Amino acid sequence: MEKSLSHVAIIMDGNGRWAKKQNKDRSFGHYQGTNNVRNIAIAAEAMGISVLTLYAFSTENWKRSAEEVNYLMKLPAQFFDAYMKELMEKNIRINLIGHFDRFPIDTQRVLKRAIERSKDNTGMVLNFAMDYGSRDEIVNAIKDYTADVIDNKRANDLSVNEFSDYLMTSEFGDVDLMIRTSGEVRLSNFLLWQMAYAEMIFVETHWPDFTPNDFKECVKQYYDRDRRFGGVK
Ligand code: IPE
Ligand code: IPE
Ligand code: MG
Repeated sequence: MEKSLSHVAIIMDGNGRWAKKQNKDRSFGHYQGTNNVRNIAIAAEAMGISVLTLYAFSTENWKRSAEEVNYLMKLPAQFFDAYMKELMEKNIRINLIGHFDRFPIDTQRVLKRAIERSKDNTGMVLNFAMDYGSRDEIVNAIKDYTADVIDNKRANDLSVNEFSDYLMTSEFGDVDLMIRTSGEVRLSNFLLWQMAYAEMIFVETHWPDFTPNDFKECVKQYYDRDRRFGGVK
């Protein structure tokens, strides 16, 4: 059977170290990292991937300095100003998972506008995880489920598949392939439930240097792997 690759998730890590290596501010790394989102999104679209989920800001990233957080909050505007036209031409739909409401109003406006403008696009979904944390998502899903039971909207008979419907990724399903750049081998609270059976690839390259060719190499590795899901081949 032909193996499919529908949902790819990337932990875009290493912007700060990339900048430091060349004696630049961390913000310069974030700037170049943001430009690279365009390159990898266009490559993923061309490869026929359905959903590309990118970890852009975690619930833990609020711990960083106000200066760094403020800079990160400005990047969506820069990204969509530069690339929205091209993303629209490629029929790409923008989606967001995470908390919308904790961002500055201007950032929220920019994100809402990109989602609204692209909502009828039928191509790849470019799904940004922003102010996203997997544990937070799972706890919220449990609260929503419990409320449904208490309100007699459903019976207390939750199944694994139904639980996925309470998550912010309900329309996209499980992750097939997860890539993390920059050498760290951990998940940092990203899509824990959705990656139960994901293939994972960890590369040393820092995110701003991660090229479409590197991405293609990861996809090739994915197709060379044997996904058994607990069964026997
Ligand atoms: C990833 O790069 C971007 C965000 C987390 C927002 P980092 O900023 O984590 O870069 P390093 O890991 O410090 O090099
Ligand atoms: C994960 O990277 C979050 C994003 C890429 C947005 P971090 O750099 O925040 O993760 P840790 O702190 O190294 O685990
Ligand atoms: Mg990092």
